[in-house]
Parts: sequence; structure tokens; C-alpha cells
Amino acid sequence: MCGIVGIVGNQPVAVRLVDALKRLEYRGYDSAGVATIHQGKLERRRAEGKLVNLERRLAEEPLAGTSGIAHTRWATHGAPIERNAHPHFTDGVAVVHNGIIENFAAIKNELSGEGATFHTQTDTEVVAQLIAAYVRKGMTNRAAVQAMLKRVTGAYALAILFENEPGAVYAARSGPPLAIGYGEGEMFLGSDAIALAPFTNQISYLIDGDWAVLTHDRAEIMDFDGNPVTRARQLSVAAAYVIDKGNHRHFMEKEIYEQPEAISHALGHYIDFAERKVSAIAGSIDFANLSGLAISACGTAYLAGLTSKYWFERYARLPVEIDVASEFRYREVPLNANSAALFISQSGETADTLASLRYCRDAGLKIGAVVNVRESTIARESDAIFPILAGPEIGVASTKAFTCQLSVLAALAIGAGRQRGTISAELEQTLVGHLAEMPRIMSAVLNRIQPTIETLARDLSKCKDVLYLGRGTSYPLAMEGALKLKEISYIHAEGYAAGELKHGPIALIDENMPVIVIAPHDRFFEKTVSNMQEVAARGGRIIFITDEKGAAASDLPTMATIVLPDVDEAIQPMIFSLPIQLLAYHTAVFMGTDVDQPRNLAKSVTVE
Ligand code: F6R
Repeated sequence: MCGIVGIVGNQPVAVRLVDALKRLEYRGYDSAGVATIHQGKLERRRAEGKLVNLERRLAEEPLAGTSGIAHTRWATHGAPIERNAHPHFTDGVAVVHNGIIENFAAIKNELSGEGATFHTQTDTEVVAQLIAAYVRKGMTNRAAVQAMLKRVTGAYALAILFENEPGAVYAARSGPPLAIGYGEGEMFLGSDAIALAPFTNQISYLIDGDWAVLTHDRAEIMDFDGNPVTRARQLSVAAAYVIDKGNHRHFMEKEIYEQPEAISHALGHYIDFAERKVSAIAGSIDFANLSGLAISACGTAYLAGLTSKYWFERYARLPVEIDVASEFRYREVPLNANSAALFISQSGETADTLASLRYCRDAGLKIGAVVNVRESTIARESDAIFPILAGPEIGVASTKAFTCQLSVLAALAIGAGRQRGTISAELEQTLVGHLAEMPRIMSAVLNRIQPTIETLARDLSKCKDVLYLGRGTSYPLAMEGALKLKEISYIHAEGYAAGELKHGPIALIDENMPVIVIAPHDRFFEKTVSNMQEVAARGGRIIFITDEKGAAASDLPTMATIVLPDVDEAIQPMIFSLPIQLLAYHTAVFMGTDVDQPRNLAKSVTVE
């Protein structure tokens, strides 16, 4: 997490570095800092909290200089206070870092024993201290950087500036992403291509083990052993988009309302609407002869994957092994090379998901990536990329990426079913017809449900705990509803399979804890209503999210009922996502939390 930027420029860089950081703020926003070299001297400004605080600092005390590095932080080691904010300085060496230096404690002890004084609680400071120590022993800057890289273990993307070498920025990657941008007499470095988009669209990505020296007109890239290597230059498609909330109060609200359009765009890539069939998976993964599919992801992306398990098993009769990536990567899952693996990630950079991908690749599986960022590491390490085309998602709580992931996964499951001969051409046409209706239905729902949700959110904002229940694909959705609520409102919430209620959670039911039941009138409706009866019988307050048929079929008293249109089971998860997203959003607004940048979270999680 953390975002890093560097510029070896031919004009002042401080403001440009901060502008680039704004495009990386999704990676962390605990504190930020910038360092430049001016008249042979390293200088820095740092500030606790969001980037606006750093901007204020720079307005009060501007920084001159045409080379610099900058950082926006998601704290791992050390509290998010100014003292721990990057860049870290030691004896003319400045460092910004994304990742975790795992052996920092041993190095710190060793250097402290040699007389070094540490000024922060961070793991990163050992990088600056180590380099400075090697330089003091007589090494050149370049040799000191290489020696430091041989000494540290863990995950890192680094940018390093030396006071005595103002025309150079050093970079290194092992784990978190790092892109080099080529300008006119200027070179750039950034955690992603989006950060660099206002400066250049000529990008090379460093790969793990690479390190580089950027000067005004070139990037010298070396492998871990110092041998020169070439990394292909490519045209970045990351647009220099304006980060704009439009008429909305928050990016999250904007992104919720963008869903009909985003999904149309995503489906357009996978579906031949004229022929009513799935079009774009041919040649990527041969689903026809697979014996199984492994799916792994984190958080909301995992819940999209869990939903798709129901679809792959139902439509393609394909057994699915799925787990959260932080477990999958260490479980020693026995894998069959005749299986394929799918990794779902909005950012395409999530460390645990990437590690699971590599585990499956080493086992010889064909790898597919369902990603939003097509230039991400996960995309680049996959055999087949399935873009979700949601556009930039800025709100930390994922909304449009989730429903676009679901839409793409539904299309893939239907396409897989056709390849495997487990669905008929007629069923494919019917299902594709339902997918095609989705954007229109979503727009209608978004236009209609807001007032009911706002009233309900006011009540919910007074609660301490909330339980979500669902069956079938409404079960992952119950977990997603709970995740969304806890992420942005900080209300404790749990999502359960409705049938599990009586195996434990029923003990929690009382008049204080609302139970949100997601129950469209599907194959499981009657069973879920029985579980609702169990809640009602114990004085529980029910918020019933259902469809028209479901509302007509149940006469149980509820605290509120949200009625959605009757839609086919295949698109229920996308349509029913809307009330759960809006409920979390409006509850958080009532509570006055920071909706787009909730505490302790970051949009891109590049550490374990
Ligand atoms: C929740 C949320 C997170 C992410 C998770 C994976 O709203 O956004 O749970 O889904 O951190 O991130 P990606 O999809 O970038 O791998």
C-alpha cells in the first residue's frame, strides 16, 4: 500500500510530485511527505494525515529543486505521525518505501551497535541507515544501494535520493509495483501508471529483483546481481483522468450511481448482444476440458469469486475450489494441472492474491485474471486477462468494481457452460438476455430506493451490531453487505448463511440487533422465510430485502421492507448489491465518518 513517486526533472518538482501523490492517495492516507534537492542540499516537508495537510505545509514553506521523491503512507510499522512519515533522511540519503522490510529489527540492532541513531519506529529507516553506513565505509552510491538490496528481505518498492547526486533517483522493486516513465529530458517513477499519466504515457515496469538508476534522459535497469536488463517500453492506457466527484458528495456515491454504465461497458466486452451469446472468452482459457477451477481473492473481490462459484458449478458443472488468498497461498492446496485458476482483484496488486497466483502458476495451472487495472502485476503475470472495465474506483469501499466483477464472472460462467456443453444455446440466449437487461433495471432501482434507504440508514446508524442473512448467491452478498457496513460506518456487522443461524448466531438475536435478510423469491425463498420466522419468534427486528413476489409472499412483520423488481436468479446478486451498498453509504453519512477514506484502510493492499 503506500504510494511512491520520483522525478528527475528539468523544472521544479515539489508541486508535481504532490499532484502525482493525489492520484496515489488511494494507496494510503495516514501521512505524506516530499523531499527535493536544492543547491546541493536535501530538504523535506512532511505532514500527518491526508495530502491536503502536506499541501498546506508546502504552501507555507515551499520546496525548490528539480529532483525529488514523495510518499503517501499506509502505516505498517510505527504510528502514523509526522516523525514516521517518509521520506526518511540519514546522512544525505533520502528514502521512500512501499512494503515491509522483514529483517529490519536485526539490521537496526546491528547498526545501533555500530553507533547509528534511529529517529523513527519504521522498518524503512533501516534502508536509509544501511545505505549511509555503506557509503561511510567508502562505497559508491550505486554499490551501497546494491549492497543494501542484498541485505534486506521482505517486500519493497523503493525510491532513493542522494544529496551528492542531485541528477539521479534510484529505484528498486521486490513485490509492490513500480513503473518508470520516460519524459522529454525528464524521468519519472511511480507506484502505478496512473500516477505518471499527466507526465508521460511511455512506461516500463520493473519486475521483482530489478533496480534502476534514473537520470534526466535514461533509466539504467539492473537485475538483482547488477547485470543490465531491458524492460520493454509500452504505451500506457492509464488516462490522466480528472479526479472528480461530479454532483456527488463522495466518490463512493458517484461510483454506486455509475454502475449501470460501468456494467454496460463491461458486458459489451464479453457479450455479443445481437447474437445473444458470450463472445470474448474463446482462446483464453479452454474451459471445455478442465477438471476444476481454483478461485482466490481478498475481501470484496473474494465475495465476487464466491458468488461465481455458484454460477460455475450450476451453469458449467465445473467444481470450484475457492478460498481467501491469505489462506489459499499457505494451505498447500493439492492442485491438478488439468485445472485452471482465476484471480480476482480490482487493483491487480494485492499481495496475497499475487502470491496465490504464483503458487498456482508453479503448479502448472493456466492462470486467468479478473482485474480492473489491466497493467497491474496480476494482469501481467496471467495467461488470460478478463478486464472488468469499471473505470477508476477511488472510494476505498469497492462498489462498481464488485458488480462489474460479478457481471464478468457471470459471463465467463455462461461461456464456460457453452464450451462444456452443460447449457443449451437457448439457455445461453436467455441468460445473456437477463445480463443485457441489468443496466436498465439497475438505473430504475437506483432512482427509486434512495428515500427508503435513507430513512432506514438513520435507524441503523444508532445500532451497534447488525446481522445479514442470505442463501445461495445471497449468502456471499450477506457477507458483502456486512463488510461494506463495517468498513465505512464502523458498525459491527456479520454476514451468515441463513441456514447457519440456528447453529450459533441465533443466540445474538434480541430487539437491539437488526437482522437484514436478503431473500429474493428464488429457489431458496421458503427456507429463508423459515429462518426469518426464527428471528421474529425471538423478538428480532427484521429488515427484509426482497423482490415483488417475495414481498407478496411474506406477511411477517418487519422493521422495513425494501422491494426490488422480480429478476432472474442469474442477475439477482448485481441488483441486490444496490440496496446493501446504499444502506452502508447512507449509514456512514449519518454517522459522519470519512466515507471515501475510512480509517485504517487502503485501496491497494500490497503487503501481507
Ligand atoms: C472492500 C474492499 C476490499 C478489497 C480487497 C481486495 O470494499 O474494497 O475488501 O476488495 O482489499 O482488493 P483488490 O480487489 O484490489 O485485490
